[in-house]
This record gives sequence, structure tokens and C-alpha cells, in this order.
Amino acid sequence: MKNPTPDTTPSFTLITGATQGIGREFARLYAARGRALVLVARGQAALDELRRELAPTGARLETIALDLSTTDAALALFERTRQSGWHVETLVNNAGVGLHGEFLGLDAERDRAMLRLNMLTLTELCRLYAPAMVARGKGEILNVASTAAFQPGPLMSTYYASKAYVLSFTEALAEELAPRGVRVTALCPGATATNFQSTADMKAVTIFRKGLVSTAPEVAAAGVRALERGRRVKIPGALHAAMALSVRFLPRDCVTKVSRLAITPRD
Ligand SMILES: NC(=O)c1ccc[n+]([C@@H]2O[C@H](COP(=O)([O-])OP(=O)(O)OC[C@H]3O[C@@H](n4cnc5c(N)ncnc54)[C@H](OP(=O)(O)O)[C@@H]3O)[C@@H](O)[C@H]2O)c1
Repeated sequence: MKNPTPDTTPSFTLITGATQGIGREFARLYAARGRALVLVARGQAALDELRRELAPTGARLETIALDLSTTDAALALFERTRQSGWHVETLVNNAGVGLHGEFLGLDAERDRAMLRLNMLTLTELCRLYAPAMVARGKGEILNVASTAAFQPGPLMSTYYASKAYVLSFTEALAEELAPRGVRVTALCPGATATNFQSTADMKAVTIFRKGLVSTAPEVAAAGVRALERGRRVKIPGALHAAMALSVRFLPRDCVTKVSRLAITPRD
């Protein structure tokens, strides 16, 4: 009997929001392991710079400049990779932004764009890429949530709610896909030193106080490890984990008030 033809379709790790902060660290870690990468962010110049930085690793590097906060972005990204014949075996849904301020004062279009990016695009990318992983009986999805997922966040109400969605969706998806050979992990970083704070219009707030802030390399490494080990939820850092889990034991009203204080600008 003839041996079946070996599957030679190249397998890629696709990282959204790859040019800065935590996403850039994912790119560095996976490139160092020789993974073929599809790197996605809006700015082509930053993608080119990242490609130059990672070139010495010898990893295959492809870049796609795309705004993932638009309605059809996930499908556009999927089509680009499909037409190029790139099979995505690891999907890192990292791109996400925050928006600080009272709900009624938020710029409505900016808020909607954030919700599309943080929730809808992430969901659609899972919907589009997971079927091929299931068909091969092999794949990985790492969705970046936040410790914001564990409690309401007055002054960042929609951002916190969007991350609660990511955590809940990811845990459910992990349960559904586990028997089909696909590992799914929710990474829940606490405050991390990146551009996030300024992009979200956050001034000096308690959660970003010195000593409470993780570094992007620590967070990304914890995420990669958790995914490899099949952990469904990972909160990097003992302090952040303790803070996130302590809310289970406190009255919800109290948690909400403390949460507000933690993201109220300090004078
Ligand atoms: N830093 C924290 O304290 C913290 C804590 C918990 C969770 N997180 C989560 O961690 C993830 C990464 O955040 P980070 O702190 O690393 O942020 P960051 O340093 O601001 O980097 C964000 C990355 O996403 C890209 N991006 C932003 N908007 C995009 C869009 N519309 N379409 C495509 N790409 C976009 C940016 O590149 P372009 O601007 O060129 O598009 C950049 O590469 C987010 O999901 C965030 O919610 C962060």
C-alpha cells in the first residue's frame, strides 16, 4: 500500500498586536524557538522594524498590517493567510486596548472600536482558525484577557467587561476543544509596563504603582509556558494572582468600590 503523502503545509504562529509590549515579547520568544510567524499590527513601519530585529533568529517572518478593530478585520486576516497557504497552528490573540474614564464620558466610537478589537475580532479569529486545528487534531489558542476580568471596573467599565468576556469565552472554548486536541489558554496579566496605560488615557493610578507592575517579558513567558502545559487560565505573578483570586471571598459591592479606587487617578 502507498504511504500517505506527508502534509508539508507550513505551520505558523500568528500573533496579533505583535509590535509592542506583551505581543512583541511573544514574537521574540517564538522566533527564538524557530517558529514561523505571522505578525499582525496596524503600523507597517513597526512590523518592518520587528522583522529586522528578529531576522537573526532565522525564523520565517511574515507581516500583515491591519486594523483589527474594524468589522470585517478577522475575515480579512484569515483570507490573507489562507490565500498564502499558511496554516495557523498557534493563534495568539494578544491585540487589545483600554479606555479610561466614566462610561458616559467615553468617546462612543473609540469605545465601540475597543469592544470590537477586544471581543469580536478575538472571537472571530477563534471561529475561523480553530476548525483546521480540530481537523488536524492539533492546535493552540492563547487569548490575552487580564486580571480586569475578575471584577467590575468603574472608570474602565467597558474594558473590564470586555476582559471578563474574554476569560469566560476562553474557558468555555478550552473545555469544548480539549477532547479534539486543541489547547486553549486565557492569559490574565495584571498591570504590566507597556504602552497600554498611555493608549488607554490612564494617568497615574494605584494599580500601576511601582512594585505592582510586571514586565512584558515575564508575562509573555508565563503565557507561553501555560499554553504548553495546557493550563486553561494563567495569572502571571503571585501578587497579581492573589489579588485576582481574593475577590471571590469579598462582597461584590466592596470589590467594585476598591476596584474603582485602584484605577482612580492619583494627584
Ligand atoms: N499592559 C497591561 O497592563 C495589561 C494588563 C492586562 C492585560 N493586558 C492586555 O495585554 C494585551 C497587550 O497589551 P500591551 O500592554 O502589550 O499593549 P501595547 O504595548 O499598547 O501593544 C499593543 C499592540 O497591539 C497593537 N494594536 C493596537 N490596536 C490594534 C488594532 N486596532 N489592530 C491591530 N493591532 C492593534 C499595537 O500596534 P499598532 O498600534 O501598530 O496597531 C501593539 O502592537 C492587550 O490585550 C491588553 O488588554 C495588558
